[in-house]
Amino acid sequence: LHQSVLLDASIEGLAIKPDGIYVDGTFGRGGHSRAILDRLGPNGRLIAIDKDDAAILHAGEYFIDERFSIYKRSFAELEALLTSLSLLGQIDGVLLDLGVSSPQLDEADRGFSFMHDGPLDMRMDRQNGITAAEFVNTFKAQDMAKVFKEYGEERFAKRIANAIETARVGAPFETTLALAEVVKAANPRWEKHKHPATRVFQAIRIYVNRELEDLKIVLDSSIKSLKKNGRLAVISFHSLEDRIVKQFMKNASQGPYIPKEVPVRACEIKMNFKCIGKAIKPSAIEVEENIRSRSAVLRIGEKLL
Ligand SMILES: C[S@@+](CC[C@H](N)C(=O)[O-])C[C@H]1O[C@@H](n2cnc3c(N)ncnc32)[C@H](O)[C@@H]1O
Repeated sequence: LHQSVLLDASIEGLAIKPDGIYVDGTFGRGGHSRAILDRLGPNGRLIAIDKDDAAILHAGEYFIDERFSIYKRSFAELEALLTSLSLLGQIDGVLLDLGVSSPQLDEADRGFSFMHDGPLDMRMDRQNGITAAEFVNTFKAQDMAKVFKEYGEERFAKRIANAIETARVGAPFETTLALAEVVKAANPRWEKHKHPATRVFQAIRIYVNRELEDLKIVLDSSIKSLKKNGRLAVISFHSLEDRIVKQFMKNASQGPYIPKEVPVRACEIKMNFKCIGKAIKPSAIEVEENIRSRSAVLRIGEKLL
């Protein structure tokens, strides 16, 4: 069973108006989309996006609803999509439930997991970008190490990257387990409750899917998409994502930068955005029921002008 993380809190954060127009930027299997549709009246509208074909197929099969439409896109293309629909600035709420879906992780042939053996792919959109195999088989150790450090916060990035570069000579990596084994052997210090390849797998995934770049783009375009009092709800799953979301909301809610020398009265500074409440984490019960929610953080904001 696929359980949506922080479902009630995120839907509540969107403060859904029955006649509103909403965007689910990360459809997955539609857990959040379903909850949004349940709260929309006959004139409400939901525009969903996912870059994974399996998500699009799922929507085609299970989301037959005149109020609903889905687009196979990266959410980085949100602004262009809404512009083409003449809906930029008309949106009442944008939801982003970041990262990979449970089916993506669970299906061995997607190559996301060091637990199930499969082809080293890791792309959410299998028509675009380089595969994890191409990454580990062609990148210089130095460039791999940079990715492991930046996107995995892996302390032993260089050592692991060198081991990969040595191991691939004559026998390029093809499968997740083969990579996991080499990383495991090269990682001198194993963290508690964490497979020694966790950080490296996370880093490769973030890199091949351009996750952090696309997140920065979609946050900017979300604000442009929203109308006055529109809500933005973002669920992130690791500190790198949450840092970007937190910083973005903080900057947006501080208004435009005005140099100290420029005299302005406080009432003239118009804020564009405000954060609603503090970061929300799943309850102990939710974490117990769904281990994947353990690192989730939900942040909510509202466009003011
Ligand atoms: C955590 S799941 C969402 C689960 C969904 N909320 C549910 O309840 O079923 C994240 C989904 O977002 C998609 N995704 C991640 N990054 C994306 C991007 N840049 N553009 C479009 N879809 C993306 C993934 O393919 C995945 O299906």
